[in-house]
Amino acid sequence: MVYLTRIENFNAAHKLYNEAWSFEKNQAEFGKCANANWHGHNYKLEVTVKGKPDKATGYFINAAELSSIIKREITEVLDHKNLNIDIDWLKGVQPTSEMICISIWKQLSPHLEGKCQLHKLKLVETPNIYVEYYGE
Ligand code: NI
Repeated sequence: MVYLTRIENFNAAHKLYNEAWSFEKNQAEFGKCANANWHGHNYKLEVTVKGKPDKATGYFINAAELSSIIKREITEVLDHKNLNIDIDWLKGVQPTSEMICISIWKQLSPHLEGKCQLHKLKLVETPNIYVEYYGE
């Protein structure tokens, strides 16, 4: 198996807030991230796929095709959106990087079937924080 990673970016707004809790409890749990009027991140999404290179092409998926799929299904959908309210497949999801990563996996993996296997997603939220998800 060979592993290929494609990096794409998107910018989006969100807040971390549990409607079942009081404002004070949300502030205590999520701090600045519970800010009522949202805040944004410059997210970096690293998509690692695996496969066996084809003899004729020397790769298992064309990196440009992989980029197109990630952009069409994920980053262009999320870019400049509010992750709490704008995205159908994030409705009801607390938009932490952890939960966004799991949702991206569910959304992206069907579009890679027959081309390659999704191995890892890495979602970088700030220079100091990122999440990695292997689909389990
Ligand atoms: Ni945030």
